[in-house]
Amino acid sequence: MAQEDGFYDPYMFEYKGVYFNCDLTTVEYIDSLEHFAIRDSDVFLVTYPKSGTVWTQQILSLIFNEGHRNGTEAINNITRVPWLEYNIYNMDYDNRPSPRLFSSHMPYYLMPKDLRNRRGKVIYVYRNPKDGLVSFYHFYKLMVKATNSKSWEEFFERFLAGKVFGGSWFDHVRGWHTHKDDFNILFMTYEEMKKDLRSAVLKISAFVEKELDDEDVNTIVEKATFENMKHDPLANYTFLGEDLLGKSEGGFLRKGTVGDWKNLMTVAQNERFDQFYKDKMKDLPIKLIWHID
Ligand code: A3P
Repeated sequence: MAQEDGFYDPYMFEYKGVYFNCDLTTVEYIDSLEHFAIRDSDVFLVTYPKSGTVWTQQILSLIFNEGHRNGTEAINNITRVPWLEYNIYNMDYDNRPSPRLFSSHMPYYLMPKDLRNRRGKVIYVYRNPKDGLVSFYHFYKLMVKATNSKSWEEFFERFLAGKVFGGSWFDHVRGWHTHKDDFNILFMTYEEMKKDLRSAVLKISAFVEKELDDEDVNTIVEKATFENMKHDPLANYTFLGEDLLGKSEGGFLRKGTVGDWKNLMTVAQNERFDQFYKDKMKDLPIKLIWHID
């Protein structure tokens, strides 16, 4: 719990530099993941929160499951691509049939050792952090079990301090990029998915070595658009229920745009953010897209 610095939140605990949901996991379980046995066919989707996780879960599920593409199976995204560190449905991960798909918000150093030895595959999706911050702010307001202190000004500072679920965006993205050679990894950005979803689907399917015909690709693109996912009860996370997200509908699919930060950040906050970003990330060779015209 980040208590000592004014960012107290009784719903999360700190472990090795990041913050986890108290209700959904334990330190012992996270520690045990070091020895989680990886198969070569495993695919891990890794993101910092609010970077397009649900979206990419949907794409992966559609790529791998014909029954999802043709609508004959009604299985939700979390069951298809479950969270590694939050095994909320108590699934038997060790005995799941291959290829197994997993999601994670963890930093590179908490991932299973075999994965860090280039076994399995990782798809790392990241998003410009101004939009990520705004998305997270709205999400925190929905979450029933998250700090009660949720003003925009407070959340802005909280995000920069990294005292949110998942820890610091800056550390997360830096860590995964600087340790990329330890993993068999594909980097994707939210913005490139937004600009050209079809190309993104093709890139992901090539990486996971799944051959798809044109019709499959068309179906995936259609079922992974913002509008379709927002109204798809198996994709929009409403199945998590009101205990987690309150009464508001479509919490995970809010706006789905690039550049929404301009509607919330003041000029002064934007300047502060730019300086903070420069200080933290200047030597990292990544190029972010902050808006799409
Ligand atoms: P916004 O709050 O900006 O709308 P995550 O799944 O990592 O929690 O990320 C959630 C963000 O991804 C939300 O951003 C959500 O709307 C956006 N998102 C989810 N599915 C999407 C889609 N199909 N197209 C575009 N954005 C999507």
